[in-house]
Amino acid sequence: MRIDIITIFPEYLDPLALSLPGRARERGLLDIQVHDLREWTHDRHRTVDDTPYGGGAGMVMRPEPWGEALDSVCTEESVVIVPTPSGEVFDQGRAAALSAERHLVFCCGRYEGIDQRVIDEIADRWRLAELSLGDFVLNGGEVAALAITEAVVRLIPGFMGNPDSLVEESHADGLLEYPVYTKPASWRGRDVPEVLLSGHHGNVARWRHEQAVERTRARRPDLER
Ligand code: ADE
Repeated sequence: MRIDIITIFPEYLDPLALSLPGRARERGLLDIQVHDLREWTHDRHRTVDDTPYGGGAGMVMRPEPWGEALDSVCTEESVVIVPTPSGEVFDQGRAAALSAERHLVFCCGRYEGIDQRVIDEIADRWRLAELSLGDFVLNGGEVAALAITEAVVRLIPGFMGNPDSLVEESHADGLLEYPVYTKPASWRGRDVPEVLLSGHHGNVARWRHEQAVERTRARRPDLER
């Protein structure tokens, strides 16, 4: 998979060189390129924003640098992701679908957002996904691009050291994950649930499922089907 990230703060994406995505990069499963949007400006001040037509607070990102950046980065295979609190909510299903793509392009907006004509142009020429991490507002799309990249990249076949861990984790089956324990069996007077020490695989599986259902009901009733 190839991922291009366009931003005015390329340093924000430095963590991609570390940890999980870093390993996939080393193994050649993943090629991530981060681009400074200002490379596609032509004025002395490398301007990327301006005041909003119609008035109001804040600044809006001008369309011209975005147009040139997308012309130079996108191909017919691209899915162009615009992180925004006004997008559809990103979830594990979206992560799985994106992990099968060959090319993702992230457009990280700042300020009040990107001129709508850029979004309309993306929708006309490529596949557009406006995605939100949830009902809260970040200062820009960079942190969302990092989070979405990590969620997607770990689903690329061959990426995870132990792919079994993908099957049992939270959201894989529409439930939150059951609680987990390791040694010692007793710690500060708190004991590991007896059933986990029993060696009875059927009982362990049943207990874990009950715990997952109970957790989901208590914390995320919206996920219950
Ligand atoms: N940009 C700003 N806030 C965001 C959010 N909640 N999700 C995705 N991108 C964003």
